[in-house]
Amino acid sequence: MGKSVLSASIAAYFAARGRTLLVDADLGMGNAHILQGVKPRASLVDFIEGEHTIGDIRTSCGEGLDLLAGGSGIPHMALLQREDRARLSEQLAELEVAYKFLLLDSAAGISSQTMSFAAAADRLLLILTPDVTSMTDAYGFLKVHNQVRPAGEALFVVNRAGDEEQAHKTADRFREVSEQFLGVQPRWLGFLPEDPAVSASVNQRTPLILNDSDSPAGRALSGISGQLFSELECLSPRGLGRSMRSVAGGGSLWSATGRRT
Ligand SMILES: Nc1ncnc2c1ncn2[C@@H]1O[C@H](COP(=O)(O)OP(=O)(O)O)[C@@H](O)[C@H]1O
Ligand SMILES: [Mg+2]
Repeated sequence: MGKSVLSASIAAYFAARGRTLLVDADLGMGNAHILQGVKPRASLVDFIEGEHTIGDIRTSCGEGLDLLAGGSGIPHMALLQREDRARLSEQLAELEVAYKFLLLDSAAGISSQTMSFAAAADRLLLILTPDVTSMTDAYGFLKVHNQVRPAGEALFVVNRAGDEEQAHKTADRFREVSEQFLGVQPRWLGFLPEDPAVSASVNQRTPLILNDSDSPAGRALSGISGQLFSELECLSPRGLGRSMRSVAGGGSLWSATGRRT
């Protein structure tokens, strides 16, 4: 839990450093637009229904940041058909050249759609909480992901930690099981404490990093965003649209956990 909250703030952080496109890849229950405080005229659901190009459905979220809104309440959109995916990747490949960073806010679960988007991203960021169920979901995601990409490149964040000790225990455990059963060690970027400033920022419809950067979770998010920024600056981007075409620009980042709670 925390994919959308983290994506919203990481997007704001990136946008201050290079033109950024946030893609709400949750076509069933997308809410990235709410967290950015914008009202999109159209969403990816409209794009898939064939009424718009992908450029038409872009919503500006302010200086340096655009959003491709997901969709909501349309269950059959939760899974894209092969031809929809092809059209999406074609048009994304054209659009992404205008951006330094592409950030995808994932839907929960391990659907083939979620996994293929994740496989196409330059980096995968898993978000897990100290709950055992969250750890199991994150592990399940990594296991499937590892079949197409070396999961050792995956990054993770512990969200909603009660304290630093709990965060460390959670991270150690996740690295242990990943090492033991998959032979990979995802890299831990840090943790966000449980913090009322998070839901306050959600209710304000403003990314936490802009709304309350001095809160404990806000400070942690700045640090994590900075690490991600350095990470993506150093790699040569494959291009999300281009990679999707071949199998899911600057760099692209995919945030995911297994479970919607
Ligand atoms: N670190 C945190 N501290 C307190 N509440 C949090 C924290 N992270 C997430 N939440 C709560 O969880 C809710 C769901 O988070 P969200 O990012 O939308 O989940 P996801 O996108 O993974 O489904 C938020 O609206 C917020 O209220
Ligand atoms: Mg979400």
